[in-house]
Amino acid sequence: MTTRVTSDFDFDSTALEVVAGLDLSGRRALVTGAASGIGIETARALAAAGAQVTLAARDTAAAERTAADIRATTGNSDVPIAQLDLMDRGSVDRLVADFSGPLHILVNNAGVMAVPELRFSPEGHEMQFATNHLGHFRLAVGLLPALRAAQGARVVSVSSRAHLNSPVVFDDIDFAERAYDPALAYAQSKTANVLFAVEATRRWAEDGIFTNALHPGAIADSNLARHYPPGLLDELRASGRYTFKTLQQGAATSAFVATSDLLDGIGGRYFENCQQAVVEDPKAAGTDAAGVAAFALDPSAAERLWDVSEEMNR
Ligand SMILES: NC(=O)c1ccc[n+]([C@@H]2O[C@H](COP(=O)([O-])OP(=O)(O)OC[C@H]3O[C@@H](n4cnc5c(N)ncnc54)[C@H](OP(=O)(O)O)[C@@H]3O)[C@@H](O)[C@H]2O)c1
Repeated sequence: MTTRVTSDFDFDSTALEVVAGLDLSGRRALVTGAASGIGIETARALAAAGAQVTLAARDTAAAERTAADIRATTGNSDVPIAQLDLMDRGSVDRLVADFSGPLHILVNNAGVMAVPELRFSPEGHEMQFATNHLGHFRLAVGLLPALRAAQGARVVSVSSRAHLNSPVVFDDIDFAERAYDPALAYAQSKTANVLFAVEATRRWAEDGIFTNALHPGAIADSNLARHYPPGLLDELRASGRYTFKTLQQGAATSAFVATSDLLDGIGGRYFENCQQAVVEDPKAAGTDAAGVAAFALDPSAAERLWDVSEEMNR
């Protein structure tokens, strides 16, 4: 019987509140998707606590602007940038090759949602799965020597409560046989983010590397809804179906999972509002309910996904 991790932080907590009083000097972190949305605020919190934070982003000009802003607001000048396009293996491999020394915190934060039509990576994998899961899988595996060298590292896998809408459909991950559904493709990729945490922990715990997944909350102020039809985000805001978080609140659980000593030696779990989530029946889940699907924590699915991901990444 494992004890559920809970904390004094809650829905309203911000990333800066989560790291208040922490000293991360000497630690090195890397955040993907760090030039937009939740990624910026996650990076800001880690930098505010004194870590070196590499901002990995597709758009290096945007990353430079973000780095300047984080340096100015935190007083921490150690905020390098790195080019990273998760759909481009060459880009992932270059980042890995250029990264030297230990990496204490890897935040796999970048993501795409609700891509309206079926699109593929250059290797022929569905775009949301390829970006949100396969690209991060390649990145984390590539950075394994750096994570090992930290002698106590954390990997943070930013999932979503949308994962409740679909397991990984191993028989047809790339929508070859079933009709493409943007929401189901996103959900599948976000379940993969949780399963990755389960299997990475099984494989890497003995190297002192612990991986956990999380739902950041519903945050309307990021760019994630860029693929929504015009007007849909405004409709959702007005509907009252979601209680939205600010970007700082949205980054709080990432900062918590990356830094809290409550998670020392703990991995393969899923967090929400800075608490470990309980297993929930996806069919019973409301839009604001907390919870993780049993299929996302299933060790055999996690192991299978790892093998499939290695195969797809060959
Ligand atoms: N916002 C929410 O309500 C919500 C809810 C649940 C989960 N999440 C998760 O939270 C994470 C952050 O999302 P956000 O809300 O902050 O959205 P966002 O502002 O759109 O940030 C997503 C980031 O991912 C980057 N990205 C997309 N495709 C990429 C690629 N091929 N290679 C490298 N980077 C790529 C984007 O870079 P560009 O700027 O270059 O496109 C952007 O920086 C995502 O994983 C998302 O699934 C968000």
